[in-house]
Amino acid sequence: MGVLAKKMGAVAVVMWVAFICCHAAEAGRRQLRFDGKRGEFRILQVADMHYADGKRTPCEDVFPQQMASCSDLNTTAFIRRVILAEKPDLIVFTGDNIFGFDATDAASSMDAAFAPAVSSNIPWAAVLGNHDQESTLSREGVMKHIVSMKNTLSQLNPPEAHVIDGYGNYNLEVHGVEGSSLANKSALNLYFLDSGDYSTVPSIPGYGWIKPSQQLWFERTSSNLRRAYVNKPEPQKGPAPALTFFHIPLPEFASFDSSNFTGVKQEGISSASVNSGFFTTMVAAGDVKAVFTGHDHLNDFCGELTGIHLCYAGGFGYHAYGKAGWSRRARMVVASLEKTEKGSWGTVKSIKNMETS
Ligand SMILES: *[C@@H]1O[C@H](CO)[C@@H](O)[C@H](O)[C@H]1NC(C)=O
Ligand SMILES: *[C@@H]1O[C@H](CO)[C@@H](O)[C@H](O)[C@H]1NC(C)=O
Ligand SMILES: *[C@@H]1O[C@H](CO)[C@@H](O)[C@H](O)[C@H]1NC(C)=O
Repeated sequence: MGVLAKKMGAVAVVMWVAFICCHAAEAGRRQLRFDGKRGEFRILQVADMHYADGKRTPCEDVFPQQMASCSDLNTTAFIRRVILAEKPDLIVFTGDNIFGFDATDAASSMDAAFAPAVSSNIPWAAVLGNHDQESTLSREGVMKHIVSMKNTLSQLNPPEAHVIDGYGNYNLEVHGVEGSSLANKSALNLYFLDSGDYSTVPSIPGYGWIKPSQQLWFERTSSNLRRAYVNKPEPQKGPAPALTFFHIPLPEFASFDSSNFTGVKQEGISSASVNSGFFTTMVAAGDVKAVFTGHDHLNDFCGELTGIHLCYAGGFGYHAYGKAGWSRRARMVVASLEKTEKGSWGTVKSIKNMETS
């Protein structure tokens, strides 16, 4: 027994050292931060790549004369071009990254779909849609594969939540400019959630929704972040602004018409058939300024309800349904810091977003 205890002690020490080594290295390499030149943090949102088998997978909804020369490789070329043009600090993929039904092998399909993000060396994060699990991997398997890829900040689930529905619920902090007073604080918070695929409740038809376990995690995380932000050092007055990313729009996306949104609405809002209450949960938390979803490829509008902007990205992938003549597109979100009197950078002054194609 004594020997076993000693052995276990040795193992424990080794693991502890490994933990310190890698945790510190990761923190150094991966901490998201506002850029010190422009005081900006730029996020590229890519929704619905619907990637399948690459060159063999045809495009949908392009003009007939474009069909012969169009495949998933056009999606790859498009993302490369947008990354070069927009120079994002983070790329966020909001689900239906692959179109599982047409993907022979989920892992290869994901490797190809995310390859431009991986090779750009820009950090990236992804959540699941309702089609990612339709190939050779389960939702858990898909998310585990994503988490194992290079340059991603995606996480399987928060380590502190013992029970949580779905895969790919996590948050990321964007710290202030290096050397500024907010260098060690999260000046912008990003939440990522798994909005599920389809209802598993027989009496409720349709798409999935964000469950109470996920909302509880969100509430706790939001309140911990608020506490850290308003406490010393450099105590701030209110919570830091936050943005939320997931796949399936909330029922509240249907609250707008052309008099109060910007962008276009060319199809209905395919939310779950029940209201999970997540919108209300976010309003009550008080930090979320905008929600970014995908799912309805022909909608790219943003509207504001009770202080929260609800935004679609518009469909990105060429193997996703779309509309011939209406460009595949993505959303850019740019958060800008205030310049302080001393010429340094302060807290977030504005968050702007626009379509890019
Ligand atoms: C797809 O890519 C090919 C090869 O670059 C190009 O010739 C074609 O015009 C693209 N199709 C569309 C619809 O953009
Ligand atoms: C942030 O943390 C670093 C490293 O611990 C420290 O050197 C620096 O003074 C801190 N800056 C602020 C503004 O708290
Ligand atoms: C948008 O305007 C319509 C009337 O045109 C109104 O019914 C709706 O409540 C408005 N939505 C919001 C969020 O203000």
